[in-house]
Amino acid sequence: MEFDLVINGGRVYLDGKFSACNIGVAEGRVAALTPEPLRARMGGTSLDAVGRLVYPGTIDTHVHFRDPGRTDKEDFGTGTAAAAAGGVTTVLDIQNNIPLTTDVDVARAKLDEIAPKARVDFGIYGSVGVQNLDRLAGMADHVVAYKAFMTKSVGPLTVTDLGDLSKAFIALRGLGRVFTIHAESDAIVQVAKEGLPDHIASHVKSRPRVAEWVAVAEALELCREYRVPLNIPHISTGRAAMLVGRAKEEGLPVSGATCAHYLHFTDDDVVAGGAEWKVNPPIKFAEDREILLQAVKSGVVDHVHSDHAPHTREEKSKNFNAVPSGIPGVQHQLPALLDLAASGRIGYEDVGRLLCDGPARAFGLRAGRLYAGSPADIVIVDPAAETVSSPSDLLSKTGHSIWCGRRVRGAVERTILKGVTVWSRSDGLRESVRGTRVAAQV
Ligand code: DOR
Ligand code: ZN
Repeated sequence: MEFDLVINGGRVYLDGKFSACNIGVAEGRVAALTPEPLRARMGGTSLDAVGRLVYPGTIDTHVHFRDPGRTDKEDFGTGTAAAAAGGVTTVLDIQNNIPLTTDVDVARAKLDEIAPKARVDFGIYGSVGVQNLDRLAGMADHVVAYKAFMTKSVGPLTVTDLGDLSKAFIALRGLGRVFTIHAESDAIVQVAKEGLPDHIASHVKSRPRVAEWVAVAEALELCREYRVPLNIPHISTGRAAMLVGRAKEEGLPVSGATCAHYLHFTDDDVVAGGAEWKVNPPIKFAEDREILLQAVKSGVVDHVHSDHAPHTREEKSKNFNAVPSGIPGVQHQLPALLDLAASGRIGYEDVGRLLCDGPARAFGLRAGRLYAGSPADIVIVDPAAETVSSPSDLLSKTGHSIWCGRRVRGAVERTILKGVTVWSRSDGLRESVRGTRVAAQV
């Protein structure tokens, strides 16, 4: 067999565990997975992966790339460049650009705008608001999932009333798409934020843990009633993770995700770091972090996404109250999880489950798995290398990140999309192959 690319000597994440295995790629697909050493065709590429871990290209189910309309913060080219550098080969992009994706015409226009810029595969969410409930079904063929905010975060669209949220569930029934709900209770946030000083330490008080507990419980009960597959993203509290775990045990069609920042940091880091660390939901307490770590290890929380939410440096350097919430993270979540594996808090297999199988299963994507005939979307990592990012390494437009200057053990070495290297640690970004739109069906 003639291989365009071979990867020899690595340990490959296959069906939940690592196997000593070599990979042959032909015409953008995995053509061989074998313990036998493989040779590339004349003019092909042969990579030595001894000492490396080889994962399927990872999936980030929750990024905000701001294209079109807020491309001063990020555009689809820079966002997907950062994804490629972070070992991500599929991104699901959410509203919080202008216009919001409220109907099929906007969805179509957005796809036309972003597709030529995509450096990795992509899908988009449809926005759910009180105003567009009658237009949700009409965009099902263009979106991979839908998203609602139970309280205002960034962007104007919210569904704060439970009656309206019920209507959204009813509108989404039978579409075969996941409903992602930003679960913080608006009523509780409105009370909690009153009279707080203009200081970063107020943030976690203004959006307290109980706001997440209550909203998650409400969303789960609506899921129980209406049976629309539900995703609770960016879980920041231990108790919310436990609620999702219990709902899964009861057989509800629900998935739960958290982010690397909730697994690494606590409120102390936020106060020390300042407004750059302002994010919704806020980073919580040491006790939450511990439970979340257990929850990702046990599978109660089934995947990790970045919630990549870029804002400009100017916006992030205002006084706390005026600073928009959100932190960029698509480039750093894989190294951040490798670091947790290096210190034994999770396993390297867990990294594959959390960034590949878990997100694919939750959203019904045909990605995140290597098998004979699968797309050759692959990331090679060096678990022994260190990543210490500086602003000049960042491919996001933001030019800042809470991960800059931090030492994490584990580094992305090369990201391959459809058999072609799109980013490597030695050469950076390559102008090679374009990402394409993915389909989802749950
Ligand atoms: O901190 C956040 N930023 N949380 C969100 O829910 C939205 C995001 C954004 O779009 O900036
Ligand atoms: Zn988000």
